[in-house]
Amino acid sequence: MKVLMINGSPRKEGNTYIALKEMEKIFIREGVESEIIHMGNKAVRGCIACQGCAKKGKCVFDDCVNEIAPKFEECDGLVIGTPVYYASANGTMISFLDRLFYSTPFDKTMKVGACVAAARRGGLSATFDEMNKYFTISGMPVASGQYWNSIHGREEGEAEKDAEGLQGMRTLARNMVFLMKSIALGKEQYGLPEREEPQWTNFIR
Ligand SMILES: Cc1cc2nc3c(=O)[nH]c(=O)nc-3n(C[C@H](O)[C@H](O)[C@H](O)COP(=O)(O)O)c2cc1C
Repeated sequence: MKVLMINGSPRKEGNTYIALKEMEKIFIREGVESEIIHMGNKAVRGCIACQGCAKKGKCVFDDCVNEIAPKFEECDGLVIGTPVYYASANGTMISFLDRLFYSTPFDKTMKVGACVAAARRGGLSATFDEMNKYFTISGMPVASGQYWNSIHGREEGEAEKDAEGLQGMRTLARNMVFLMKSIALGKEQYGLPEREEPQWTNFIR
């Protein structure tokens, strides 16, 4: 059982990282393998809608998106950690997720998703909603915690003082482990849900 955690902050050990590390402590305690990848300091360009990935099975831009994609394929759970910029995930994270989710052809059904956001003051729950949409369009159940998975702080390290935020990360990690274990059992007993051929209607006819 493995969890992949993406740190979308340009600050390697900033407040987003503190939230992810708090979750990691629980994964270690529960015997779940985990890895934190620092992606937020990379120059990640946006999707250019070339549809090249449909032919190649990967993004035409060979960068961290293609490097991380196989790790996403093999993991049972994905945690997205992002700083809040103007009440949204930061631009790097959005570019990364657009391309990661769009370009990867593998089935993501029943991989558990969770997102965490770090901010000084506002825009956290808008960011939380934004992030969860990548999971819910992909058949990925969303792990939830005791709030909308957020942590507060402005300067690097300030999130260490947010006791409620840190507790929320631990709760989220415990819930995520339970969900991943339950899904593993369910898969063994019942298999994945049946999938239909996708219907592509674009509301033009
Ligand atoms: C460009 C930019 C925009 C920001 N926008 C917001 C915002 O909308 N709301 C907020 O509360 N904090 C905002 N912040 C502050 C960061 O969210 C905050 O410093 C956070 O702790 C950064 O996380 P990190 O340490 O993981 O990078 C912004 C920071 C930057 C650099």
